[in-house]
Amino acid sequence: MKIKSKLRNNFIPVNTPKIFSKDKIYVKKCLNTGWISSEGSFVKLFEKNFAKYINRKYAIAVSSGTAALDIALKSLNLKKNYEVIIPAYSIISTALSVLKLGLKPVLVDCDLYNWNMIPDDVLKKISKKTRAIIITHIYGFPVDMKEIIRVCNKKNIKIIEDAAEVIGQKYKKRKCGTFGDLSTFSFYANKHITTGEGGMILTNNNKYFQKSSSLRNLCFGSEKDRFNHDDIGWNYRLTNIQAALGCGQLENISWIIKRKREIGKMYHSLLKSNSKIYIQPLTNKFSKNIFWVFGVVINKNSKIKRNEVVEKLKTNNIQTRNFFHPMHKQKIFKRMKIFSKWAKFPNAEYLSKNGFYLPSGLGIKNSQIRYVAKTLNKVLKNY
Ligand SMILES: Cc1ncc(COP(=O)(O)O)c(C=O)c1O
Repeated sequence: MKIKSKLRNNFIPVNTPKIFSKDKIYVKKCLNTGWISSEGSFVKLFEKNFAKYINRKYAIAVSSGTAALDIALKSLNLKKNYEVIIPAYSIISTALSVLKLGLKPVLVDCDLYNWNMIPDDVLKKISKKTRAIIITHIYGFPVDMKEIIRVCNKKNIKIIEDAAEVIGQKYKKRKCGTFGDLSTFSFYANKHITTGEGGMILTNNNKYFQKSSSLRNLCFGSEKDRFNHDDIGWNYRLTNIQAALGCGQLENISWIIKRKREIGKMYHSLLKSNSKIYIQPLTNKFSKNIFWVFGVVINKNSKIKRNEVVEKLKTNNIQTRNFFHPMHKQKIFKRMKIFSKWAKFPNAEYLSKNGFYLPSGLGIKNSQIRYVAKTLNKVLKNY
């Protein structure tokens, strides 16, 4: 099936980042200074401005969102074999950061509406061995965190908030990334703001700040004995060039969030009456969808499979991306026997088999959104 349209022959990528004129000015300025590695004023400025924007005291810029998770978790200084609760439905980085430290990942299923960890299930998974929970906000809505935070405070369980996908999103009236003992962000090209590759850790706790800063930079020793290292760290530094780009991007964050919501609203209005698919609402009880990406899930009553839909969109030059693969089904974890082979997380499995997201990057044009939605409606009409 081929759709007739002027746009038909123009490939629409799943993400096109937006580079602002300020980004170019700052990157050029950075290059002119010669400070192109991680030493340099843009790194500090980016950290300061990002911490201010989210409203946290300390910021540590790092090379990716994955690095941010590794560092944040190690900063908690947990003993091996203790348990860390994480979502079954998210990027593999979460489980990797737990496993790299010899800790035990305990999975929680997501719901089928917000696609986030189910708060009651998180509470049920808390055991005597639980030392931390990684609360991961997926795609557009935050996790409903109130009760989880209350119980964690009472039981002294630490919270890492993975806010990689929801920069600028609020839970009730407060920004995501202000609830965890530490919070983490990613600045990959498809995130709300980008540094190409990059990430950030935020905290209000000076001890975690010191430890995270050291872990980012190979845990170098004191000035007098620099090459005598304090702990097992990493080189997870962000470059000054990347930070310069981040500074420019951050100046445009209000526009970015507004545009992301516009893209989401447009897709929503064009697809909401299609009974073959589930799309998320514009708002829920505790937040307004920030539409990091626009996700679509094929309904149980539909006769067409996700992979066929995706293929048909591809023949019409529309790139999509399938939803995450559930953690307990990852081939590497099966081989390593990390999770019980009887483990079942039906919602994560359902989303993974039936979900995909549409082109939703900041570079997309309204005419392209209309074309994508029209093509998807047409593909689904025959089933
Ligand atoms: C929720 C979440 N956490 C962490 C990451 C890892 O970020 P990065 O790709 O910068 O390593 C991602 C990446 O997409 C993510 O979606």
